[in-house]
Amino acid sequence: MSQSTRKTEAGKDAAGREPAALRTFPMPRSCPMSPPDSYAELREHEPVSRAALQVNGKPAWLITRFADLKQILGDSRVSANLKLPGYPLQVPVPDEVLQAVPLTFLSMDSPEHTVHRRMLAPEFSVRRIRALRENVEQIVDHRINDLLAGSEPTDLVAALAMPVPALVICELLGVPYADHEQFEIWSAQTMSRDIDDAARGLAHQHLDTYVDNLVTAKETEPGDDMISRLIAKNREEPTVSHADIASMSRLMLIAGHETTANMISLGVLTFLRHPELLASITAEPDLLPAAVEELLRHFSISDSGTARVAMADIEIGDVTIKAGEGILPLNNAANHDPDVFTDPDRIDFHRAGRAHLAFGYGIHQCIGQNLARIELEIVYRRLFERIPSLRLAVPFEELRFKHDAMVYGLHALPVTW
Ligand code: HEM
Repeated sequence: MSQSTRKTEAGKDAAGREPAALRTFPMPRSCPMSPPDSYAELREHEPVSRAALQVNGKPAWLITRFADLKQILGDSRVSANLKLPGYPLQVPVPDEVLQAVPLTFLSMDSPEHTVHRRMLAPEFSVRRIRALRENVEQIVDHRINDLLAGSEPTDLVAALAMPVPALVICELLGVPYADHEQFEIWSAQTMSRDIDDAARGLAHQHLDTYVDNLVTAKETEPGDDMISRLIAKNREEPTVSHADIASMSRLMLIAGHETTANMISLGVLTFLRHPELLASITAEPDLLPAAVEELLRHFSISDSGTARVAMADIEIGDVTIKAGEGILPLNNAANHDPDVFTDPDRIDFHRAGRAHLAFGYGIHQCIGQNLARIELEIVYRRLFERIPSLRLAVPFEELRFKHDAMVYGLHALPVTW
């Protein structure tokens, strides 16, 4: 069939294949530090292609070229609403649980999304985030002190990568850090494939109740924190409900943890395996922001985190995505598009900056990106300044990567010094 005549029937791919005959998503990687091998082939030969989701066998469109990703994510005819039937969910959530969960603005479309995003945007301005730099430095230094005071070898994910973003967001929101283990367990359970539906539903409920109680408490006893400021702003100019503030807070609490933690551990591992890259930022500290961008581009850990549903028939390349069909724009494929990034699989801190898509694109582009950037800069810099002898405590081949998770990363990173 010629490329230009490729139109689709619901449930089948461009060549009329049934979902069972489709390639499965997610796809395997031969090297854990590089994107799945099939991405290059798809980008070149079938840039908009059909796949079956591993979690439930349902079909979804994979978008792999940089320009196509921007087209889809910038199109107001796609929806981020995960309750819509065609939405390509990547974790198994029973429909009754899904329909009962309050939507966060991550899953809302305009104009509702705009209302929530506008309320929060000032909290994440470059100026406000810069002002947090000293706090983040202190948090990182305390964790490194504890790491050095502990025994060797130790797991860097548990000792540093997870606690740093958790402590930062808890402080920002005004959430007691003592509660973090509990809400991290609930949050992980809501996305886990290893527990049954009832337990997953219960985790959703616990998380909602926890955040709801927190917001209620701050309504009567405000503090100097983001949730209290949102409540105060909303009192002055009522825009959203109590439940909306709770859903925004819940999203803030869980959105930035695992992503930032995974980037910390993958970045540290990269520096441990490539002493020349570490030497370049040590010799030229001003290179660090570019190094952070390049690592974000290279790993693009939230590869399929920008899932959408077509709300109308959408022409993209030579394919028509039908209204109601699920779409997975893959930023790990787009960020390795050779039309945009020369020698894309090489990590190059001197790459002249074409903006990458690791934080998404369009109206949902990551609101926490400036925060993530300073956390990564500070961790990469302070860790190697303070522990220059840091090294892997196990052979690279023994490391366990999160191959099936929605956010790519490392389960553990045993290190010694
Ligand atoms: C390296 C770290 C991070 C990565 C790779 C990342 C990635 C992303 C991506 C790809 C999106 C777009 C989702 C979509 O289009 O559907 C997103 C949205 C979002 N991120 Fe991040 N993120 C990171 C850190 C953070 C942090 C630290 C926060 C802190 C609060 C955060 C909060 C959010 C929120 C609230 C949204 C939804 C924005 C909206 O819908 O308007 N993220 N992130």
